[in-house]
Amino acid sequence: MSKLALFGGTPLRTTPFTSYNPIGEEEKARVAGVLDSGLLSGFIAEPGEHFLGGPEVRELEELTCEMMGARFAVTMNSATSALYAAVGAAGLGPGDEMIVTPYTMSASATAALAWGAIPVFADIDPETFCLDPAAVEALVSERTRAIMAVDLFGHPADFAALKRIAAQHDLILIEDAAQAPMASLDGKQAATLGDIGILSLNRHKHIHCGEGGIALTDDPELARRLQLIRNHGEVVVEPGENLASMIGQNYRMTEVHAAIAIEQMKKLPGLVARRQTQADEISRALDGHPLLTPPVVRDGVTHAYYVYATRLRRRENPQVSRDVLARALSAEGLPATAGYVTPLYELPLYQQRIGMGSGKGDQGWPFSLAPHVDYAACACPVVERLETQELCLLGNVHGALSDTEMADTLAILEKVGAGADQLHGVTATDLPGS
Ligand SMILES: Cc1ncc(COP(=O)(O)O)c(C=O)c1O
Repeated sequence: MSKLALFGGTPLRTTPFTSYNPIGEEEKARVAGVLDSGLLSGFIAEPGEHFLGGPEVRELEELTCEMMGARFAVTMNSATSALYAAVGAAGLGPGDEMIVTPYTMSASATAALAWGAIPVFADIDPETFCLDPAAVEALVSERTRAIMAVDLFGHPADFAALKRIAAQHDLILIEDAAQAPMASLDGKQAATLGDIGILSLNRHKHIHCGEGGIALTDDPELARRLQLIRNHGEVVVEPGENLASMIGQNYRMTEVHAAIAIEQMKKLPGLVARRQTQADEISRALDGHPLLTPPVVRDGVTHAYYVYATRLRRRENPQVSRDVLARALSAEGLPATAGYVTPLYELPLYQQRIGMGSGKGDQGWPFSLAPHVDYAACACPVVERLETQELCLLGNVHGALSDTEMADTLAILEKVGAGADQLHGVTATDLPGS
């Protein structure tokens, strides 16, 4: 058995893995065309043909609808903007509650706060890392107006069950599919599985245009409200239009960003397919691995592998620390991260309940509207266990690995698996640099 690099052995790989860059000549050429035209944004916030943006924005929206199988696509300048617009379009307002996972990027939850609504955190399924429908159902109250489900790491949430809950309690179901373009559930694309779905085009995602987001829906009323919130809608609403949560923003996408995003969108199926092929190969290698489980893919699901998320087999390895395991993989040259994010309810925003204003009676707005929601007592045991003890993210699985890099990845996983005994009883504080 060879000595692990973490304990002074020779690392299997010393050169960094290729970083992911999906941008090429096509994007450059299309941006040059936009710059030559001089029309860098086609939006004007007044009724008329410019209200819905310029030619690149509209083409991107058409292409997205075609590829995702949605009726309406509304581009935005980020997925955060799209999430905020989605919650507003759904009509949530002060004191309304939105059930959301705490294991996600912060904006999935702050999208509620932006409209004075209150995020209520529900635990997740330990295998898919997405909302656990039973936990959601237990939190539904007469104040609940929406569920925000996140397709974490590229695996769609359990929309069959969530839809049943939403229908039973008359709730809007929003899908944060920022991490899951081209993932699917029973043949239906991620971002089209709820009432409104969101994609991200930020630079860390499968495809990007620097910053950008897209909201998808099949509902013409929701699409219109998304368009109004995107573009200072209060100045164009027509008499009789629903004014609930209708304070317009500037969430508009530029023509330059849309041009890049069009070329990226065309490449998306190929980029995701390569990621799936490489992820599948690593999953086959992890089948029966002594330390790590491959990501679970539920029946009917196509995974988009935004992140390749493994878990420490803790039951079989009670003496192995997940943090030490991540360090051992990284020391061999395979960047591995212990955990994903702090459960959102642990952030000072929620613990101190200071939202807007500096806070007084039961702290700032809108938390002052919901004294019954106690974030200090919030506990999502599955999230906490995954974050502190089990989850180990492999940072190099993005579909662009060369054959050598793939071989190194598999060799490192095998070496660390074979050296599992060396990790027994070692704690992170025992390691140099801790
Ligand atoms: C699940 C999730 N939702 C929302 C966002 C926000 O995306 P953006 O950076 O485009 O605003 C991200 C970005 O990391 C994300 O991962």
